[in-house]
Amino acid sequence: MRQRHLFSAALLSGSLLLAGCQQDSTGGDSLTLYSGRGEPLVAPLIEAFERETGITVDVRYGGTAELANLLQEEGGQSPACVFWAQDVAALGTTKPLFKVLPASITDKVEPVFRDRDGKWIGTSGRARLLIYSPERLQEGDLPSTMAELADPKFKGRLAVAPTNGSFVAHVAALRLSQGDAAAEAWLQGIAANEPVIVRNNTAQHQAIADGEADLASTNNYYLGRFKASDPNFPVAQTQFEPGDIGNLMLVAGAGILESCNNKPAAQMFMDFLASPTAQQYFTGSVFEYPVTGISIVPEGTAGVDYATAAANAPKVDLNDLTDMQGTLALINKHLN
Ligand SMILES: [Fe+2]
Repeated sequence: MRQRHLFSAALLSGSLLLAGCQQDSTGGDSLTLYSGRGEPLVAPLIEAFERETGITVDVRYGGTAELANLLQEEGGQSPACVFWAQDVAALGTTKPLFKVLPASITDKVEPVFRDRDGKWIGTSGRARLLIYSPERLQEGDLPSTMAELADPKFKGRLAVAPTNGSFVAHVAALRLSQGDAAAEAWLQGIAANEPVIVRNNTAQHQAIADGEADLASTNNYYLGRFKASDPNFPVAQTQFEPGDIGNLMLVAGAGILESCNNKPAAQMFMDFLASPTAQQYFTGSVFEYPVTGISIVPEGTAGVDYATAAANAPKVDLNDLTDMQGTLALINKHLN
């Protein structure tokens, strides 16, 4: 049986029997989830959790930054029990509102993929990397560092998604590792290359497929999705040289709000996200990477496996990627 067979009872039972259930006032058991992750991506997983536990998950979908702002406004009055964010910056912003998670949950996740104070865990990993047109660029023409994308030789050939959360986190990491002056110089170089400005990572891929651009820095998991529906989709991906900031490893992640009125259910949900079932789903069906160190059979068709991505990633502490407002302001100054 292929690993894609996701929700076997055997896998689920182990992770879900740990915490007890609480009945809410309506006689059913429920929890409210704020999800910055898109519905098509996570709905199948949430439904599996509901089927197995009998707990109803009321989901409010929205942009990660938008939901993080909402949580700030709502404070202790928020109906949310769990916040599932696309990026670490939003988790850092929300951290003061999170409770400390039990070690039974945090211990499942590799230390590099969780909060140093135990208030959030990564739920899946994603690597930044290079996508390009294999028709218009030979391997020898490719930049070996992210810095090189700002080289004038790539003028008119880049696609950039300046407001995308992963791009913002990436520039935040660039500021951390190389300083503000270097990050700003890089943004100036990118702007001088007159990139095609698009909304998100998907649109970057499409821009290359449509011939509007030849290369872009993006997240690893999109190409697998495109190739799953069209094996001839004319985009390829590769990483920069080992340790380059262009190979940054990021996470989507989640935490439990201190104000949650059903913490046992919230803990069961978090436990589920770190379970082999969920980790296999992120890896096998969504083409992201596991965060729990378990060995998972990769099904991605697009090429950069987890071991390679992890080995090539620069050393950046995700806990430190918190100044998203400052980073966004810097980006807006140069790319619009
Ligand atoms: Fe994404």
